[in-house]
Amino acid sequence: MKEYIRYPRVEGSASRQAHADLPHGTYEREMGKEGFFGPASFFYHRHPPTAWTSFEGPLRPHAFDLDKLGRGPATPWEAPVVLGNAHCEMRYWDFAGAMDHLVRNADGDQLLFVHRGAGELYCDFGHLSFATGDYLLLPRGTMWRLDATAGAALLMIEARNGSFMLPEKGLLGPHALFDAAMLDVPSMDEAFRSQQTESAWRVRIKCRGQVSTATFPFNPLDATGWHGDLCACRINVRDFRPVNSHRYHLPPSVHSTFVAQRFVVCTFVPRPFETDPGAIKIPFFHNNDDYDEVIFYHAGEFFSRDNIHPGMVTYHPAGFTHGPHPRALERMLVQPSPATDEVAVMIDCRDPLEIGAAAAPVEWHGYVDSWKGGK
Ligand SMILES: [Fe+2]
Repeated sequence: MKEYIRYPRVEGSASRQAHADLPHGTYEREMGKEGFFGPASFFYHRHPPTAWTSFEGPLRPHAFDLDKLGRGPATPWEAPVVLGNAHCEMRYWDFAGAMDHLVRNADGDQLLFVHRGAGELYCDFGHLSFATGDYLLLPRGTMWRLDATAGAALLMIEARNGSFMLPEKGLLGPHALFDAAMLDVPSMDEAFRSQQTESAWRVRIKCRGQVSTATFPFNPLDATGWHGDLCACRINVRDFRPVNSHRYHLPPSVHSTFVAQRFVVCTFVPRPFETDPGAIKIPFFHNNDDYDEVIFYHAGEFFSRDNIHPGMVTYHPAGFTHGPHPRALERMLVQPSPATDEVAVMIDCRDPLEIGAAAAPVEWHGYVDSWKGGK
């Protein structure tokens, strides 16, 4: 048996309640373990903890404008890798048309987030339409293809050698955030049956990062039915019902959507700001020393970040102190609007990420300087 050494103390001029009632004129920084779940301490600084005049060395944050990657390949296995490690891989796939082949991911569960566009998913489990703001979850081994005649852009998240699961909801109760009954599943409808042709189809199977191709003289999505408790599913960000507190700025973990082995996917959706005069209304400064943090910006105005627009992704390696940008910081205690309309996908990884070679050309190298101008 072992446990962290935990003994709350207060030293000097400090608040006894995290994220509220900060000593006048101070900036709060959290230093903690286990991604906001372990022991933590809160420092009350006289200057913003990100107000450096220069930052050099490898521990630098990164930002990429993924829409600048442009139209991608006709198959997801050639889509540019943005970030990845042994447990998680993120690609960005902008494509148009109907895939002329099926794919199968033998490496892990595949989560697709639809940043833009709409279309049809055909898979082992049947037919399902998709639209902007959808998550599509395809269990490892599922054969699938997409038809997106007008084009679509997807953030692809792979749980390498693992599974996506739903988070523990604890005190919130099992139906909070979204009711599992809201998960839509494919159906074996007329659209599915009508694509069961006797013409040749290829299945491009990704296994251990390499692609093999099986060719059939018919479409292998030819099941007449299925039963079981493993299935593809869909849920839209509109279906999420976020929790918030009018008196306390909750940590990002309350927005957890899917949990995999050694990483978590969270979704920030429109929600009201805190109203208590002493509660902070923007994310607190922190280092999150155990996790690499990635945020993909989907829609709305990102209230804590300056100069970030939809289609961008930021990457903060573990140990990099960050928090609100200078313009956002001015709204720490008073927000000009009652709510945020932001929609963003966050992927927090327990292990260090590597940047994909394809992402390098769309990096915004000035990102590390975007905190300059703080007091
Ligand atoms: Fe963070």
